[in-house]
Amino acid sequence: MIDNEIVLYDSIRPVRWQADGLYLLDQRKLPDEEVYLHIVSTQALYQAIKEMVVRGAPAIGIAAAYGAVIAATESKQAGRQDFQARLDLLASSRPTAVNLFNALKAAQRIAVDSADPISSLLSWAHRWLADDISANKAIGAYGARCFAAGSRVLTHCNAGALATGGYGTALGVIRKAYQNGQLTHIYSAETRPWNQGSRLSLWEFEQENIPATLIADSAAASLMQKGLIDWVVVGADSICRNGDIANKIGTYSLAVLAKHHGVKLMVAAPTTTIDLSAESGDSIVIEQRAVSEILPANYVDGVVNALNPVFDVTPAHLISAIVTEKGVIESPDARKMRVLTE
Ligand code: MRU
Repeated sequence: MIDNEIVLYDSIRPVRWQADGLYLLDQRKLPDEEVYLHIVSTQALYQAIKEMVVRGAPAIGIAAAYGAVIAATESKQAGRQDFQARLDLLASSRPTAVNLFNALKAAQRIAVDSADPISSLLSWAHRWLADDISANKAIGAYGARCFAAGSRVLTHCNAGALATGGYGTALGVIRKAYQNGQLTHIYSAETRPWNQGSRLSLWEFEQENIPATLIADSAAASLMQKGLIDWVVVGADSICRNGDIANKIGTYSLAVLAKHHGVKLMVAAPTTTIDLSAESGDSIVIEQRAVSEILPANYVDGVVNALNPVFDVTPAHLISAIVTEKGVIESPDARKMRVLTE
């Protein structure tokens, strides 16, 4: 882990625990409104994750960690089976973000081993959040070291403070490199259909006074063709044992484009995003969201239809580097991943 580095640009916290419980910054409303929702039950948290009040794999995991505290409080009288049913409900909210399942598995272990599950889970959830923020700062420092001076970067979706406990993974790398004066241009892809790039990443850059340029997703190829991008920097929802990853739909297209144009691809994610049970990208469950997110209302119930997969798989051979809090793996493969996870 890298420490003793000065970290600037760290002002955003999407998940907060206060004396009266859990608060989530409602990301459906950004950038128009900054409202925190008070989450008072596992049912409400399930709904909030499903509807993307909180989104981004690490932030979902952190919300679920606090969700376990709420679940333990709700099932205090009913007992262990009821607690497990509430964790299972949270696990069914979204299928692709591995951090959700890793957090819930850890919560289960904490609860079983404790005589006072509520307070043990609360201390553990605070640690889970704090560890995520320090992992992101380490990822930022390791990732920034990969860039030459004067680099131009493109990011996709929002793998920023909003998608984590704070600071961000891909945006943590970009924050750190910007702080170091290494970047001459930051591009953010719009990220249709939910517009995480135009609504959320731009909001983060604006908040912290970091100059960035929005592009339509379909403009990326042309920018690369003109030689305007050196690195594509993205996060991940899942990293498999062979180094394949899943991330926001459109990441795979960028990876193929990057390979074609000699642009490098960095995947920045904490080790809580690694799925030890997934040998390769073939076993990743890709979330399909409602067609109403993309289908114009006129066509609903008509002859035409829509398909809305919201993640895709990028194979390891298209990835230049996976950056975790433990360091940088260049050209990832099964052997290097084994060393990382041992
Ligand atoms: O559907 P979302 O907004 O939850 O998707 C988020 C992403 O794809 C992020 O890139 C990923 O979770 C990494 S966040 C640090």
